[in-house]
Amino acid sequence: MSPPLKWNDSTSTIQLLDQTLLPVEELWLELTAPEEMAEAIRALRVRGAPAIGIAAAYGSVLALREPHTDPASAVEAAIDLLESTRPTAVNLSWALRRIRGKIRPEVPQAALKASLLAEARAIESEDLDAGRHLGRHGLSLLESGMSVLTHCHAGGVATSGYGTALAPLIMASEADKRLSAYVDETRPLLQGSRITAWELGRAGVPVTLITDSMAGHVMAAGRVDAVIVGADRVASNGDVANKIGTYSLAVLANVHGVPFYVSVPLSTIDYSMPDGDGIIIEERVPEEITHGFGRQTAPVGVSVYNPAFDITPARLVTAIITENGIARPPYSESLVALRRQ
Ligand code: MRU
Repeated sequence: MSPPLKWNDSTSTIQLLDQTLLPVEELWLELTAPEEMAEAIRALRVRGAPAIGIAAAYGSVLALREPHTDPASAVEAAIDLLESTRPTAVNLSWALRRIRGKIRPEVPQAALKASLLAEARAIESEDLDAGRHLGRHGLSLLESGMSVLTHCHAGGVATSGYGTALAPLIMASEADKRLSAYVDETRPLLQGSRITAWELGRAGVPVTLITDSMAGHVMAAGRVDAVIVGADRVASNGDVANKIGTYSLAVLANVHGVPFYVSVPLSTIDYSMPDGDGIIIEERVPEEITHGFGRQTAPVGVSVYNPAFDITPARLVTAIITENGIARPPYSESLVALRRQ
């Protein structure tokens, strides 16, 4: 289990693993202000939908480290700042809405801080619990000896420590199942090779790293029994926003008769979003593509389009794994039923 951050009670600061340096360096930063957390989320030092929700929740508590004449307004300002950092993952606004709901202007600063901290801790521990259940439900879809392909990162550091898509793979050994993984490199920022291959390797899961463009070839060769990915936001009809390249994988899985599973905590389902058309897709700077490997790999001035996420239509999704069970199409009904449990 690798949580991406730790709240330090004695200093009221946050220790945050700088994920941009993985797997070469494991550097823990000490964050002391919401502005520092906002920078960390924007710069992807903390990344992955559940992790940025948890990070933002704790980040808002940092607003109360120093005394304020109006502590409630200081927290409101921190929440507004943190919410503006990234648009696609719904966990960010979901977690901050929970924190905002705890603000009481009449309450003294120390009591307000304690209440916000308790809520941030609850968000984190609920996610940890969700990860355990996701792993158990996901594992029920997999047989020993299977090979699972995954994209981007959906393990411990993308969550509170257990992961979503990776949870079943990591739990497999406890259940006496032998699973192996193909991991997409995940261009342009290489979350697959930098983070997923590192996390699965540490958990003892046999990993084969491929570039994104090899996925069709390995599926055609019959080397993949299932695809499992996480998500940044799932619309109420089952459309899935996840890391760019997920849609192509779903199309390939469909063509090759490979089941395509999405593993998410319920906090990633946006019941207010009817379908994927309304989901804002974050666009990032051209340099992620033109200088992605630390040096220039494209002509100067070339026009670049760099969407960080794509939408996989619900019709390509075999099942959505949640902590409350497994949803099957039609998702507009099955996702609502799981929410009620
Ligand atoms: O841009 P990132 O690294 O934050 O994108 C992360 C992803 O798209 C993950 O696959 C997704 O958040 C699932 S997290 C369990």
